Amino acid sequence: MSHRIATIPGDGIGPEVVDATLPLFETAADARGVDVEFVRYDWGSQRYLEEGTMMPDDALDHLEDSDAILLGAVGHPEVPDHVTLHGLLLPIRKGFNQQVCERPAILFDGVESPLRGYEGGDIDFTVFRENTEGEYADIGGREHVGFDHEVAVQSAVFTRAGTEAILRAAFEAAEEREGHLTSITKSNAQAYSMVFWDDVVDDVSADYPDVEVESLLVDAASMDFIRRPETFDVVVASNLFGDILTDIGAIVTGSMGLAPSGNINVEGEYPSMFEPVHGSAPDIVGRGVANPLATVLSGAMLFEDVGETAVSEALWAAVRDLLADEGAPRTPDLGGDSTTLAVVEALETRL
Ligand code: NAD
Ligand code: IPM
Ligand code: MN
Repeated sequence: MSHRIATIPGDGIGPEVVDATLPLFETAADARGVDVEFVRYDWGSQRYLEEGTMMPDDALDHLEDSDAILLGAVGHPEVPDHVTLHGLLLPIRKGFNQQVCERPAILFDGVESPLRGYEGGDIDFTVFRENTEGEYADIGGREHVGFDHEVAVQSAVFTRAGTEAILRAAFEAAEEREGHLTSITKSNAQAYSMVFWDDVVDDVSADYPDVEVESLLVDAASMDFIRRPETFDVVVASNLFGDILTDIGAIVTGSMGLAPSGNINVEGEYPSMFEPVHGSAPDIVGRGVANPLATVLSGAMLFEDVGETAVSEALWAAVRDLLADEGAPRTPDLGGDSTTLAVVEALETRL
């Protein structure tokens, strides 16, 4: 059976890392008798600048029959970020009900953490981020724009169904891992949303008696991601808190360029979407030095999602092997001086 994978390279380093890694996915799949067809969609800020929209009105219809979606990044210096993101990334996450965002944070052998005293293998946790509601509900408004009495409102929405969905996914992951779940809250200040969140954690936890639950306020958790990252196993957080914490997770494990993610439609009704945690990195775009490994690992998560475990495992293994090899090429974010393509070539020989 052939898998149809929609690819949206997007903006900035998005096309650099996606175009570099697709041949690698083909090699990894071919070598294991797996058939993949990549269908490319050139949507993004360039399209917006030329035609006025980031993607066509019927974009989701184009994507719907795919088995999965691989996205690079969006964000362009000449287009406001709320336009690019509300014009492409967020409508896909929400439209395809990708309620669960999983973002592993692993310190691989051979990678230096900016934290003193940490070595490969010391950090290995995964963050489950609520992905379609919370602080990203896109409800609010501005009144009296520009006047002294201007008011801006940005509402957060937490439904029981959405909160339960992310918590169940996180509890299930914890059951399969070390049995430890950290729930991120802010119920000291946010007496509606986060007290509700804590209540749903209590309710859902009854179904997972073997999972030990720790509750942390998001400010303290930000500190503990740096002070004691080795103690985390599965972390579950609301949309915004999960967004912030996963950048910390990426950097304590070496680089934004290494952090993968999956936006999962739990029911399997719509395709899930896989993308590096990082953005379009305008500060390094066009130099050919973007780290492709976050995209490779996002691809590994994608192949797992479509049931091709052997391809997924081969990609994880190739990345681990490359990083553990002191002589292998690495991009500047990992302290090397190699290009995106040199890293991809070195991976290719491992597949
Ligand atoms: P960013 O993740 O693009 O960059 C942050 C830092 O990490 C930069 O120094 C960058 O050079 C570095 N970095 C990121 N990816 C890298 C890689 N693969 N290899 C080496 N270094 C890498 O975040 P930002 O600068 O805050 O945002 C830039 C733009 O991207 C903005 O428009 C933002 O809205 C957008 N953005 C998009 C996504 C997405 O599409 N999923 C995610 C985050 C940010
Ligand atoms: C991410 C990004 C996005 C988010 C932005 C670009 C909307 O930061 O995927 O982490 O906040 O979800
Ligand atoms: Mn983010």
